[in-house]
Amino acid sequence: MQPSLETSLQPYFLYFEVILKEATIMVNSMSFLLLLSLLAFAPLCLCNLNPQFYDNSCPQAQQIAKSILTSYFVIQPGYAAQILRLHFHDCFVMGCDGSLLLDSSESIVSEKESDPNRDSARGFIVIDAIKLAIERACPSTVSCADILTIAARDSVVLTGGPSWEVPLGRRDSRDASISGSNNNIPAPNSIFPTLQTKFEQQGLNLTDLVTLSGAHTLGVARCTNFRQRLYNQSGNGQPDPTLDQNYAAFLRVTCPRTTLGDQNPFFLDYATPLKFDNSYFKNLMENKGLLNSDQILFTMNQESAELVRLYAERNDLFFEQFSKSMIKMGNISPLTNSSGEIRQNCRRVNA
Ligand code: HEM
Ligand SMILES: *[C@@H]1O[C@H](CO)[C@@H](O)[C@H](O)[C@H]1NC(C)=O
Ligand SMILES: *[C@@H]1O[C@H](CO)[C@@H](O)[C@H](O)[C@H]1NC(C)=O
Ligand SMILES: *[C@@H]1O[C@H](CO)[C@@H](O)[C@H](O)[C@H]1NC(C)=O
Repeated sequence: MQPSLETSLQPYFLYFEVILKEATIMVNSMSFLLLLSLLAFAPLCLCNLNPQFYDNSCPQAQQIAKSILTSYFVIQPGYAAQILRLHFHDCFVMGCDGSLLLDSSESIVSEKESDPNRDSARGFIVIDAIKLAIERACPSTVSCADILTIAARDSVVLTGGPSWEVPLGRRDSRDASISGSNNNIPAPNSIFPTLQTKFEQQGLNLTDLVTLSGAHTLGVARCTNFRQRLYNQSGNGQPDPTLDQNYAAFLRVTCPRTTLGDQNPFFLDYATPLKFDNSYFKNLMENKGLLNSDQILFTMNQESAELVRLYAERNDLFFEQFSKSMIKMGNISPLTNSSGEIRQNCRRVNA
């Protein structure tokens, strides 16, 4: 389990205070700042990810990724949401190492078969297409894990969200973990402390939890993932009282009590489903969050509710923190040593 950023930083700061008092003259303020900034990233990333990683080896990589993604997005805008979610599901399992992208084989049980991903995780063909084009330009150079991270950022940009520089240099795993996928990715009926714990286990705090949940400004969820809220939320045969009753009635029309409608898709942000914006947070304030895990960010924790209010009010602050939290999520346990590889095909490990 990773310590939280705050607790793991504390000793460094205390240490520096002592040094600073005893040897102020020795410490050049510039190098102090440099050291401090290196240490600030240490708990999440003892590595050398940096945005310039491919500047010499494959300067066209990001341009190629963006143009292929755009061509798919124009035909099917839903890919943006799908790819953003793939990045999250990759990073929460052994770090952002492309493990999610591996298909099942003799040696691999694919994470695609896990509970959160089965019948749900999609968009892999876009990553394949980007990989193919980048392999043609720069063979065996750019990892699938980096491609997915770049494509997630570009998905946000294409839908009107913020942009940020993506630290690069991840390598691809030679293995997958279906148990990690089942255990680490929170379920939509999780209670608040479970959401918080599962994020904290990845070094992400409450700010990151609330902010990154804002990704549900895009995309869809299936009836099976929120039906309980419509009919029998707590075993008394009543719908969830924290769900707007008109909205609930609307959802019941195509999300019936029986399993017949299990796979029917519903927008996570009914207001502006194709636009990356802060309306997700406005919805929560009107009891119109789709998933239980969405609505409880407003109803079950004061600090979290404060952030929801802030983001509903200030789109700029949401965008700013979303960029930061995405970088933080993208830096979860990167694989940078020889136990990782640059996969040639994102669906299988190299021969
Ligand atoms: C806080 C915990 C989270 C839970 C419990 C959760 C759960 C879910 C569920 C159940 C779905 C619908 C899946 C389906 O019905 O097939 C979904 C969709 C989605 N999630 Fe999350 N999620 C969480 C956090 C995140 C994060 C951190 C991101 C990205 C930063 C994200 C991005 C998405 C996107 C974009 C979709 C729509 C996918 C599509 O349209 O295909 N989610 N999520
Ligand atoms: C979460 O971590 C960020 C740094 O990554 C920090 O700025 C923020 O204050 C923290 N939020 C909470 C609620 O601890
Ligand atoms: C609601 O769920 C409880 C158990 O969770 C069950 O005993 C009850 O029969 C259900 N009520 C309805 C109306 O489906
Ligand atoms: C590579 O790094 C991982 C941690 O990121 C570590 O578990 C593993 O032992 C390292 N492998 C080699 C060959 O150094």
